[in-house]
Amino acid sequence: MSTSFIYRHETIYGLLMRGLYGRHYGARYRAIAALIPEGAQVLDLCCGPATLYTRHLRAKSVRYTGLDLNERFVAGLTAAGADARVWDLHSALPLPAADYVLMQASLYHFLPEPEPVLDRMLTAARQRVIIAEPIKNLTSSGNKVLARLGGRFTDPGDGASAHRFTEETLDELFRGYPEHIEERSLIAGGREKLYVLKP
Ligand SMILES: C[S@@+](CC[C@H](N)C(=O)[O-])C[C@H]1O[C@@H](n2cnc3c(N)ncnc32)[C@H](O)[C@@H]1O
Repeated sequence: MSTSFIYRHETIYGLLMRGLYGRHYGARYRAIAALIPEGAQVLDLCCGPATLYTRHLRAKSVRYTGLDLNERFVAGLTAAGADARVWDLHSALPLPAADYVLMQASLYHFLPEPEPVLDRMLTAARQRVIIAEPIKNLTSSGNKVLARLGGRFTDPGDGASAHRFTEETLDELFRGYPEHIEERSLIAGGREKLYVLKP
């Protein structure tokens, strides 16, 4: 199965994300970076081109590992000097342990059953699990061209992800983890919802 074209090139992916998030683009990364202390060990699932690391976390001297199915993103990150690994997160393999285990804008790839990957994240995290997920997703972008691109062509290489979360369905998922929830808030101008969980 082939990767959809927006996931084929870092530049195309970056332009689409900037278009979709507009002036909130930087804020979506800053909201997560602010939760991670200097020197922490970070595991970033579905890291993509890892803008979070290259623009926001590297300066904090974190020990960063990015996992993604997409070989091109992983190769780009490796070339940039980061620890990045090709990893299919549908696999039941235990995740490497880290202080902070995070996933941004990617939980929808695991619908209709996101719980197994969330459970593996809770097992791997020593300090916190951080999830930030679009709730006004690509398909609800005001820009019709970007919305069509984002909505139709987000196949990471294992089949298209037809489903997305709404705020209601995301909240419903996390209602299954009441003892873990530490914080929830809207970020990136309300486009993403952030959940912080204690393992
Ligand atoms: C919308 S991008 C998010 C990238 C980055 N976290 C961000 O917020 O900019 C989704 C990422 O999930 C990755 N992905 C999708 N399914 C995956 C899977 N089964 N295993 C690992 N990575 C996957 C894609 O390759 C893509 O890089």
